[in-house]
Amino acid sequence: MNEKPGAGMDSLNMDHFPRRPPINITFKDIRYKVVSWQTVPPRRKEILHGVSGEFRSGELTAIMGPSGAGKSTLLNILAGFAVKGMSGRILINGESRESIGLEEFKKVSCYIQQDDVVRPLLTVYEAMSLATHLKLGCSSSVKEKHQKILEILTMLSLNDHGATMSGRLSGGQKKRLSLALELITNPPVIFLDEPTTGLDSVSTTACVSLMKTLARQGRTMICTLHQPSARIFEQFSQLYCVANGVSIYQGPPENVTPFMANFDLFCPPYHNPADFIIEIAAGDYPRDLQRLAEAAEKCGNDLTISNWNSEKSDRGLEMYNLALNDKKASISSSDLGGVQSCLPQPASIWIQLFHLYYRNILIMRRDALNITLRFVAHIFIGVIFGYLYQGVGNNAETLLANFIFVYGTNLFLHYTGQMTVLLSFPLEYNVLTREHFNRWYTLPPYCIALLLVELPIQAFCAISYIVFGYYLTDQPLEWSRFLGFVMFNQAISVAAQGTGFLAGALLPITLAVFLAPVFSCFFSVFGFTSKYTDITAPLRPMYNISYFRAAFQGSFLSLYGNNRSDLPCLEEIYCHYKKPAKFLQEMGFDGFQAIPEVSYILAVGLLAYSLTAFTVWFKLNKR
Ligand SMILES: Nc1ncnc2c1ncn2[C@@H]1O[C@H](COP(=O)(O)OP(=O)(O)OP(=O)(O)O)[C@@H](O)[C@H]1O
Ligand SMILES: [Mg+2]
Repeated sequence: MNEKPGAGMDSLNMDHFPRRPPINITFKDIRYKVVSWQTVPPRRKEILHGVSGEFRSGELTAIMGPSGAGKSTLLNILAGFAVKGMSGRILINGESRESIGLEEFKKVSCYIQQDDVVRPLLTVYEAMSLATHLKLGCSSSVKEKHQKILEILTMLSLNDHGATMSGRLSGGQKKRLSLALELITNPPVIFLDEPTTGLDSVSTTACVSLMKTLARQGRTMICTLHQPSARIFEQFSQLYCVANGVSIYQGPPENVTPFMANFDLFCPPYHNPADFIIEIAAGDYPRDLQRLAEAAEKCGNDLTISNWNSEKSDRGLEMYNLALNDKKASISSSDLGGVQSCLPQPASIWIQLFHLYYRNILIMRRDALNITLRFVAHIFIGVIFGYLYQGVGNNAETLLANFIFVYGTNLFLHYTGQMTVLLSFPLEYNVLTREHFNRWYTLPPYCIALLLVELPIQAFCAISYIVFGYYLTDQPLEWSRFLGFVMFNQAISVAAQGTGFLAGALLPITLAVFLAPVFSCFFSVFGFTSKYTDITAPLRPMYNISYFRAAFQGSFLSLYGNNRSDLPCLEEIYCHYKKPAKFLQEMGFDGFQAIPEVSYILAVGLLAYSLTAFTVWFKLNKR
């Protein structure tokens, strides 16, 4: 088995990877500022201090520099992942990216971030297949899509791992899968953040030669790197070196040492030039960053390098001129509209919904243990509660115990509805960001597909609890009462699920797991034991808006309202709650209207789902 990525390229005809018109990216005076809110007053920090350069089509460019130099920041800005706080100009084939529009630029580029964000419960082939359906829509036939997937997997030497779960892939294979997923649309611009980090030297060499092949086919390949070996270093067409937020070198790798020699920075014999430049950037050699940055910018902008000290870098000049000729001969750019017209059309909203729903079902089936445990826990608690409150539903003397059973039921279903989805977005956020940024799908089908899976599971769990609890506590065996009880309990679990999604999407995890249950308990108190008239005036609005109160009263009234006949009594002399209406009147439950109240609970759920969608949309688009 050949594990070297790219090794399979020679044998492929690459029919499914037509050349794309070239795209060159020029950036001028890029500054990036962030505000740190940890200090008082908030402190502004400039991370990039006016860097400029050009990344060209057909070239594999490495952004190098020590840790914290600003490589990922620069990549984020160029890919359009970070926009707020940035100033300067980014030109795409000579036209300002602002005037083209970021969304338009994203159509022709893809960004593979540093973390390996794959869906662990999908096999490599399934992941590829779903991505292909989402990204290519109906523009290709199923057979063409299959061919394309095989071609990419072979190219990246993943063809033997098609049936392997993505979560079980090695670090290097996950990185290749991330690249494979984005290669489906054959984008002309590819940004990669540290594609070789964590790979052994053989895999790194193979990975870089694969990127070089992709670049040679006319793509603009830009990646960040840490400290490559000398062999890897010379594979790159261009090198862009960053130190403390400024560029200290841009040009072909072979020119690094002559360039540095101009500043009396001499690479020791037999020393890896990649190590040498990182050491300079890290400050291991006495250097004037400002002078280096100015000279580097001149190299980038003005190719007549008259400022170079000819004595010190005769060889460097010679090589530089070679590179200059190379640049002049390189591919001329075309307009973005022309490039876009070659790209496939993504799937329609309905097709996206179908595939996302199918993906969720597939993942859910693989995660059967989780679903089974949820289901079993509901039955188990239903049985336990049922035995604890056995027979309380049909006895006047145990009416208060039944009151507590109904409250416990509401609280339990609210808790399970809320907590099971609380971590959905926090756990999903990285992979969602990546897929959404790279335009696999839009947010509405994603959210609907999630709900189409989560809502039925929760409803099924809730009903399994209710059936056992209801029967064992000897509640009235009348369809209308049972269905009323189910309706209010299902409504509160839907609303709870909405608030769980919202808390997870809106708050940091540590706060969400604490605040969501606290708020639920707070709302649950209103209307449970306290009558409206007993509540102090400032808190009365809470009684009205508490969907928990509505669900509790609705559930209780389903059991005892609607002229329920007298309850059996053991004590014959005095039986206080023989007539259920008396209790309802004492608790102030009269005047409750089932349909408006259940609609209100569902409306709260709908509002929570909508706010969740808005929060996620905002976070995904906040740049
Ligand atoms: N939002 C932010 N707030 C404060 N500082 C930030 C922020 N984003 C980045 N930085 C700082 O900017 C500097 C550059 O970060 P960046 O992630 O670009 O480094 P890098 O060159 O990619 O490093 P590495 O090789 O370790 O990934 C770091 O010092 C980092 O702490
Ligand atoms: Mg980084």
